[in-house]
Amino acid sequence: MDADSRKPLDVIILAAGKGTRLKSDLPKVLHPLFGKPLLERVLETLRPLHRDLGIGTVYVIVGHGREAVTDHLNRLTFPFPIRAVVQEPQLGTGHAVMQARPCLGENGATGREVLVLSGDAPLLRAETLEALVARHRGKQAHVTLLGAELDNPAGYGRLVIEGDRLAAIIEDKDTSEAQRMIRVVNAGIYCLDWSAVLPLFDRISSDNAQGEFYLTDLIALGSEAGLTLRHTLLDDPDEMQGVNDRADLARCHAVLNARLQAHWMAEGVTILSPGTTLIGPDVTIGRDTVIMPGTNLLGEITVGERCEIGPYATMTGTVRVANGAKVIHSVVRDSEIGEESTVGPFAQLRDRAVLSHHVRVGNFVEVKNTRIDHHTNAAHLAYLGDSVLGSEVNIGACAVTANYDAYTGLKHQTVIEDGVKVGCNSAMIAPITLKKNCSIAAGSIITHDVESWDLAIARPRQTEVRQWVTRKIQKSQPDAVAPPKPPV
Ligand code: UD1
Ligand code: CA
Repeated sequence: MDADSRKPLDVIILAAGKGTRLKSDLPKVLHPLFGKPLLERVLETLRPLHRDLGIGTVYVIVGHGREAVTDHLNRLTFPFPIRAVVQEPQLGTGHAVMQARPCLGENGATGREVLVLSGDAPLLRAETLEALVARHRGKQAHVTLLGAELDNPAGYGRLVIEGDRLAAIIEDKDTSEAQRMIRVVNAGIYCLDWSAVLPLFDRISSDNAQGEFYLTDLIALGSEAGLTLRHTLLDDPDEMQGVNDRADLARCHAVLNARLQAHWMAEGVTILSPGTTLIGPDVTIGRDTVIMPGTNLLGEITVGERCEIGPYATMTGTVRVANGAKVIHSVVRDSEIGEESTVGPFAQLRDRAVLSHHVRVGNFVEVKNTRIDHHTNAAHLAYLGDSVLGSEVNIGACAVTANYDAYTGLKHQTVIEDGVKVGCNSAMIAPITLKKNCSIAAGSIITHDVESWDLAIARPRQTEVRQWVTRKIQKSQPDAVAPPKPPV
């Protein structure tokens, strides 16, 4: 590694714009992409860069909705410092970058490299940024920017290239008819030699169609000043997809989803129906796992090897699914599923349902804040809340833990130890403990603890009323054909 590649890189993320076209109360950069704000996705892209190149400080230029954006930034944990820098009023991208000038100046600007990113362009890959920085360093450039060749360049700044020299960027609204035909556009991502470009900022004017101080004017100014200006084109123009409206947001989800599915398929995961499946960026999936149609993996989801997920499984929050588990037609949030366990069809696990291995949670069973040890079954129609279940327990159909006291609002615990068999249609009124290997008769309402190996029956005894039906019919319909006489 040479000295240059160890030099920390400072980053400016432009995030002060309003996002008018989203028609939202939420600032644009806080709109979620697979559950995390756009701005946070951009910051995530910097993580591998920090590992490989080292990042000094990330300055986020905030303006519209800056309280909310700054609050969000304060809650994040990244391995590099993140500072919000206020731009007020917002006079354009050139003006935005200038707001970081006092901060960057404080650390002595000479030789400093600054990467400028857009807070509303979340699809850029870390490898692309690393390649940009490498090219910038390799060519000893003063400015290196990312561009792309688009079939429809409308809306973007056009790169004016003379020979092999980058001469200017003309914003869409300022283009001449001839310039409008240029299909090579500015992606809005730049690597700057800070000390070389700094003097140019004073010469950016707002004499243009939008009356803004354009960062893109650096190119014409730099070209006149004889700086080395480079550009590199994206192989995959989708990487520059920004978010200006809800359709862009949908496009970003679609592009990222397709990219991630391609990645997991290449890693040995079968995805039967990519078009009906959503896989977010915080998901990992082991090989030989099969993802069935209609599956949404949206949170921080870890799926092991040889699992069967779906059809129609939705997982959110933090979920771990161990090797060989199955989740069919079910909803899982913030829970864990152990090896070879089966969930569903039509089950819900939520708020720390933790299943060990070989557990079966079947149709219409809800499990909340409950630990279930291995080889335990709750196969049909049950509610297990705030409970601890041992191993080899059987929960009959329609068994319910009554955990909630509606008058105090308190939740109480049910402990069901190893080997307990709970008959169907029984209720455990918590707090309560059913000790090892005891048995609960079907239809019981259990209000106090049951000792090991005992049977608890808590239901009225069955009585038979002899010939009740016969008498009933004879009384109400005397003409009816007489029912057969009972044997004497
Ligand atoms: C910009 C580029 C354009 C490029 C395009 C790529 C300029 C002048 N134009 O255009 O060449 O093709 O990106 O997507 O730079 N922002 C601020 N403060 C401001 C203005 C903007 O922080 O005063 C932020 C915005 O929140 C946004 C980013 O800067 O994150 C880009 O601004 P935007 O207005 O979206 O620029 P574009 O018109 O898209
Ligand atoms: Ca934009």
